[in-house]
Amino acid sequence: MELKNLLWSLEDGILTLTINRPDKLNALNEQTILDLKSAFENAKTISHLKGVILTGAGEKAFVAGADISEFVGNTPEQAKALAQRGHDIFNSIESMPVPVIALVNGFALGGGCELAMACHLRIATPNAKFGQPEVNLGIIAGYGGTQRLTQYIGKARSLEMHLTADVIDAEKAHQFGLVNYVEMDKATAMEKAVYLINKIGSKGPLAVSKVIEVINDYFKDGVDGFASEVNAFGELFNSPEVKEGVEAFLEKRKADFRKF
Ligand code: COA
Repeated sequence: MELKNLLWSLEDGILTLTINRPDKLNALNEQTILDLKSAFENAKTISHLKGVILTGAGEKAFVAGADISEFVGNTPEQAKALAQRGHDIFNSIESMPVPVIALVNGFALGGGCELAMACHLRIATPNAKFGQPEVNLGIIAGYGGTQRLTQYIGKARSLEMHLTADVIDAEKAHQFGLVNYVEMDKATAMEKAVYLINKIGSKGPLAVSKVIEVINDYFKDGVDGFASEVNAFGELFNSPEVKEGVEAFLEKRKADFRKF
């Protein structure tokens, strides 16, 4: 796997991916999108991966959007294909079986806000800024932003953000329920992300993957999330993890799920 605009660092079962185009505020050009696709495909093959942290290089941005310079001359068909590819990649991030945390360290605009929202949890630094400013360019969000922002913050707030292109700061994003935590700086945010991934990593891995899958089902058209929950609950009883978890409780010891 060759990554050009994405830094890959795997340590103690935690993969940190850093989007690395700081001179362009980490804007998602075609190469960066393809790097994200390869990185997450590869991440799925890492055994005992506990989680992924996704962040942006430099002091100013997580990701300032899709690369606007690549919009020039697009036909409607090309634009549709571009959006579809983004959807496919962001959906694959959302369906990762381990937690993916966005560490939002600056601008998360357009595709950047959409990328952060495709992650399972978001931790922001105080300089983080969230927005869907596409209408400024005469376009709309194309990487799932109309849907996910509405899921996270509700229709009225989402409509306002998409319609006005207004940007909200980290505190407001926290108040809206868009981010889980605001930490005082990038180092502290990283510590929090590692803490959360290690905490989740001590739970039953299959159960963790099922939580993600079933909660995602809530938002899928034509899928009955309640039925998914019943099925997943049943399926888990095929796994040695349930035996370990239940036995550990009854024996008053801590469950050791990492042995599986
Ligand atoms: N696509 C392509 N390039 C981008 C970009 C994007 N989404 N966002 C920033 N850049 C580039 C700028 O063109 C500039 O490149 P240059 O130095 O070669 O001219 C560089 O990143 C730095 O950006 P700059 O605008 O000078 O920084 P700033 O601090 O003055 O402003 C923003 C920061 C985020 C407010 C501003 O860059 C911006 O509005 N970006 C576009 C945001 C957007 O509309 N995103 C949705 C896209 S669909």
